[in-house]
Amino acid sequence: MSLWGVILLLLLLLLLHLQTSTCAAVNPCCYYPCQNSGVCVRFGTDRYECDCTRTGYYGENCTIPELWTRVHLLLKPSPDTLHYILTHFHWFWNIVNNSFLRSTLMKLVLTVRSSLVPSPPTFNSKYGYLNWEAYYNISYYTRILPPVPEDCPTPMGTKGKLVLPDAKLLAERFLLRRTFRPDPQGSSLMFAFFAQHFTHQFFKTYHGMGPAFTKALAHGVDAGNIYGDNLDRQLQLRLHEDGKLKYQLINGEVYLPTVSQAPVLMHYPKDLPDDRRLAIGHEVFGLLPGLTVYATLWLREHNRVCDILKEEHPTWGDEQLFQTARLIIIGEVIRIVIEEYVQQLSGYLLHLKFDPTLIFSEQFQYSNRIALEFNQLYHWHPLMPDSFLIDGDEIPYSQFLHNTSILMHYGLEKLIDAFSRQQAGQIGGGWNINQVVLNVAKQVILESRELRTQSFNEYRKKFNLKPYTSFDEFTGDKEMARGLEELYGDIDALEFYPGLMLEMPRPGGIFGESMVEMGAPFSLKGLMGNPICSPEYWKPSTFGGQVGFDIVNSASLERLVCLNTKWCPYVAFHVPRTEEEAKPRKPSTEL
Ligand code: HEM
Ligand SMILES: *[C@@H]1O[C@H](CO)[C@@H](O)[C@H](O)[C@H]1NC(C)=O
Ligand SMILES: *[C@@H]1O[C@H](CO)[C@@H](O)[C@H](O)[C@H]1NC(C)=O
Ligand SMILES: *[C@@H]1O[C@H](CO)[C@@H](O)[C@H](O)[C@H]1NC(C)=O
Ligand SMILES: *[C@@H]1O[C@H](CO)[C@@H](O)[C@H](O)[C@H]1NC(C)=O
Repeated sequence: MSLWGVILLLLLLLLLHLQTSTCAAVNPCCYYPCQNSGVCVRFGTDRYECDCTRTGYYGENCTIPELWTRVHLLLKPSPDTLHYILTHFHWFWNIVNNSFLRSTLMKLVLTVRSSLVPSPPTFNSKYGYLNWEAYYNISYYTRILPPVPEDCPTPMGTKGKLVLPDAKLLAERFLLRRTFRPDPQGSSLMFAFFAQHFTHQFFKTYHGMGPAFTKALAHGVDAGNIYGDNLDRQLQLRLHEDGKLKYQLINGEVYLPTVSQAPVLMHYPKDLPDDRRLAIGHEVFGLLPGLTVYATLWLREHNRVCDILKEEHPTWGDEQLFQTARLIIIGEVIRIVIEEYVQQLSGYLLHLKFDPTLIFSEQFQYSNRIALEFNQLYHWHPLMPDSFLIDGDEIPYSQFLHNTSILMHYGLEKLIDAFSRQQAGQIGGGWNINQVVLNVAKQVILESRELRTQSFNEYRKKFNLKPYTSFDEFTGDKEMARGLEELYGDIDALEFYPGLMLEMPRPGGIFGESMVEMGAPFSLKGLMGNPICSPEYWKPSTFGGQVGFDIVNSASLERLVCLNTKWCPYVAFHVPRTEEEAKPRKPSTEL
């Protein structure tokens, strides 16, 4: 080849190089330049603009605070400070709990938390920009942050390595339990099973359509875990008499019907005999005796409420009795969740209060859309112990899972007593997931990658938390920090779910700051966004009159259990804390 030939070739190569590099101009939004919830929009090939409207900030990247934002930032205590105050100073909370301040602060908690959840909802896993389809198609889980754009240089945008760490390796190295670490807040298995039972009414991934979709189209507390997630299923589960649900009697006690009595799809092992196949609102609740316990309790409660309603309204037919009882059940669920479940989880000394009227004067949308991030965040499998201690027996997973005989074998009372006395595992801090459920953690990580979930630090920012600057600051554990650093390369590339699970727990806490600051807004918005909490619904007539309204307003875990059992066991979301609580309970007939 001549010299000219070589020069021509070189020129050609140069041209080609220039061309590919302009084509491959990195999407500038992959750098996440827009801060403080500013919206990044790409213009041309390499330009972007941040829309800072109503963020309280301005400037190219929405980084300069407006005057009132400055003042607000100056006065606002950090989440850790607030948490410290809310979990210390008994004398102070003694005064608050017994005065008007309880309502004032509860209102503040509800409004401040809920305001972090966009309503109407915004993005989903297909659409990283606002559009009608994303708003309208409720088969999608919504998303607080849009997916990482497809054309970014790394899976997390521009930070971190080209390939994320192997999910199985992550799970085995950082999540797998070494020795059982109990929850320092003392949560019981009764709490853990409630968490699972309650959340599965709105976390119901439609695996047939893909991880972006949900089967629970009500997007909130609809008691679909009791009545089924569609009308056909509901009709099969109903007795069509006095508003009641179908049931079977065993030794004179009300239990869940079998699938031959209520033909609905349930997931059971093939070899399970027909009389052990219980029919429940949620198709997987035959999995764990803890879930069948709650299913039985709510079945009995529903039918108990129907009896009371019928007494009040002898003219009402099956349909009105059923529908009204369902609203009462939803009200009971929300009250128990706020006043006992969230109370236990938060560890707050402020006595939480379920009172929809608190926020009637506030700007609040009575609607909700379940977010994918909320689902991922709620994979609390570390709660599960290594085995189950019931009435002197230690039952391994192999005999516990899908064993519907356990319910009838011990009876509801003994199971509730046992679950309330056994401590659940600490959720945060790593190394606390039993091998039996480890694969679920791996699965969440894989799905979150398929769905291009943004990094843990981007979510920290979205929820007004400071992004971590190093792995050491993040975990406080040297071994874990080094391991994560080696695998991820950059703290800004740490993924959402591993971030939540491995963050250093708060002192004496069940998990770290992020789980609380991100979970609470979703939770409270979902609970208070329920239609029964709206001014139009929240009145006695909605619940069949004062008697029904009183049931909602006096609901508690203990009443749910003790109004529906032969004798009253120890029942609580926390293991016994006093000698009185620790005392053995016995059937009243034996007393
Ligand atoms: C021994 C007990 C448990 C077992 C065997 C178990 C098993 C599973 C399995 C197999 C999945 C589906 C994973 C997938 O393919 O994506 C799952 C999902 C899930 N689990 Fe558990 N789990 C248990 C306890 C719990 C507890 C106590 C919680 C507490 C909240 C929980 C929360 C969740 C959530 C939120 C999902 C996602 C549900 C969905 O999107 O459909 N699990 N679990
Ligand atoms: C805005 O962010 C971009 C990308 O991160 C950066 O290059 C630029 O300097 C920032 N602009 C200002 C004014 O800070
Ligand atoms: C929602 O979107 C999915 C995926 O595009 C589609 O299959 C489904 O039919 C849509 N649902 C409705 C109600 O339009
Ligand atoms: C305030 O209420 C909470 C929740 O019921 C309770 O745990 C706490 O003991 C009360 N605080 C004081 C100091 O009485
Ligand atoms: C189910 O539980 C009962 C009672 O604890 C036990 O006797 C039985 O062996 C268990 N069944 C299976 C299949 O493990």
